[in-house]
Parts: sequence; structure tokens; C-alpha cells
Amino acid sequence: EEWKDKGAAVGVKQEMDANGKPVLRAVKKGVKDFNFGRTLGEGSYSTVLAATDRQTLREYAIKVLDKRHIIKEKKVKYVNIEKDTLNRLTEHPGIVRLYYTFQDERSLYFVLDLASGGELLGFLKKMGTFDEECTRYYGAQILDAIDYMHQRGIIHRDLKPENVLLDDQMHVKITDFGTAKILRPQQPPNGDIASDDPLETGRDRAESFVGTAEYVSPELLTDKNACKASDLWAFGCIIYQLLSGRPPFKAGNEYQTFQKIVNLEYSFPDSFPEAARDLVERLLVLDPAKRLPIEHIKNHAFFDGVQWGKGLWKVKAPRLK
Ligand code: ADE
Repeated sequence: EEWKDKGAAVGVKQEMDANGKPVLRAVKKGVKDFNFGRTLGEGSYSTVLAATDRQTLREYAIKVLDKRHIIKEKKVKYVNIEKDTLNRLTEHPGIVRLYYTFQDERSLYFVLDLASGGELLGFLKKMGTFDEECTRYYGAQILDAIDYMHQRGIIHRDLKPENVLLDDQMHVKITDFGTAKILRPQQPPNGDIASDDPLETGRDRAESFVGTAEYVSPELLTDKNACKASDLWAFGCIIYQLLSGRPPFKAGNEYQTFQKIVNLEYSFPDSFPEAARDLVERLLVLDPAKRLPIEHIKNHAFFDGVQWGKGLWKVKAPRLK
């Protein structure tokens, strides 16, 4: 009952009606339609497996979620948020696309784009730091994906290099929308007020979600409220991290990290490029209303030479340096 799957029929099968006349019937994909392969990742209540569609031989990543565990841990709401947000974000190359969902007695299945390169964090760890060109390349794609989700009324709330995956062409695919926030469909002029559907009441906003400590925005810590600009704070943290190898706010424990964030206590290594420093300083601003908006970020000197729009997804990835 809790796992309604509406309108998700996909594929067609030809059958005969009672008079022997051929009819087309919609067929929903299921577990039997895939060959499951290697494990790509493991979360606290899900496992992501590589899988191949037996008919088309197309490869996917299938997230398998354990129903009993989700109910026991009271995560049903987050699973629904993930499905609802992904279903609104199907038209962008920089976001992991949800193709099908189905279930069996034990599990829920989300059939997703396969991002065979894995996490951006993995590449950063291997390289130590990225140079300016690589940071500009990955940063631009991440920003373009954020722009699209914000235009569709969705705030990610947990952007970090672990949630930025890379496909076989080293193009960005943002994942993990389980803690996203869906804004009101009819947006007021400043476009930034929380939805009041049952998923996002003021009450649970006050007590529940805090993202990953190092990337959490100061407004979430002080007002318990995230807005679109909170994703841009995290974006500033990611740009800083790609160039310097570590997030700007990092301490021995979460409490100390939070202290550093609300006091804007961070500094740049000497080697940090000047244009990038100026951009990060305009993103890591305590007042979310004063953070650089997306259109200004795109026009910032750090992104000089980037062709925004569809062209962004056609350029060849630079060699990692
Ligand atoms: N790990 C988690 N999600 C993944 C995906 N969609 N592709 C590859 N690895 C993943």
C-alpha cells in the first residue's frame, strides 16, 4: 500500500484479443527484464547494482531498496521524495535519470542512468587536487545541473563530490535526491518558499534534515531553513575543494565544523587561483540573499570561455591534472 506505482507502464507487447485481432498492451518492466551485475555502491538501506536490459542490452544502474528496513527506519518519506524529484528531472544530461520503478515482495527498484566513472570524489582523491581547467569543466556542468533543478523547483540540499557521478565520457551526473526539497509549483517573485505539501511541513523542517556537515549552509544551522542559495553555498565548497583538495570547513567533529561554518572561518591556500578565489568569496557568504545568483556565477571571470547551454555537454573532458 505504501509503495504506489502510478502510470509507470513502459514498453508494449502484442497480444491477440478474443477474436484473434492483434492488440498492443503496455507492459511494466520488472526484475525479470534485467540481468544484474556488479555492486556499484552501498547505502544504509539500499544497494546500487549494474544491470543490463535483457531486450535492449542497454546498461543501467539499479538502486535496490529494502522495504522492511525503510519502514523500520522511517525512511518512506525520503524514498518518495527521491522518486518524485527524479520524475521531475528527466530532461537534463547532468542529472541521473530515473527510467523505471518496480517492486517485488522484498524490494523497491529504481532503474537509473549508469554513471560508470563513479564519484567525482574518487577522481579528486586520486589526483589530490584539480587544476583550474578541470575545475572549470566539472564546475560548469555541476552549475548547469543545479540551474535546471532550481528552475524545476527542486533544491538538492546535499550536494557534495560523493553525489556528483561521472559517466563514460566524464560528464557529470548528479545523484541522491533522497533529501531534496520540492518547492511550490507556482513560485512567488523570489521563488524560494518551501512547499506546504505533506512532505515538507514547517514542523519537520525544524527538526529533521541536515545534509553532510562540511557542505551545510549557515542558514540551515541558524534558521533550520534551506533555500536555493543553500545549494550555491555547497557549490562554493565544491569549487574550493576541487582546487585545494579539501573542503573549506573541516574540523575534528561535526559540532566544530558547524562552528567554523557559522563564523565563516576558512582560508585559502597561497596557490589558490585568483578568479576562483573571488568566486568562492562571493558564494561563501553567510546571508543567502547576498550570495551570487546563478546567472552572475555563469558570467564570473572564473568561467570565462565556457559556452553555457547545450554546448557544455558536447565538449571533450580535459585530461585530469
Ligand atoms: N552509484 C550510485 N549510483 C550510481 C549510478 N547511477 N551509476 C554508477 N554508480 C552509482
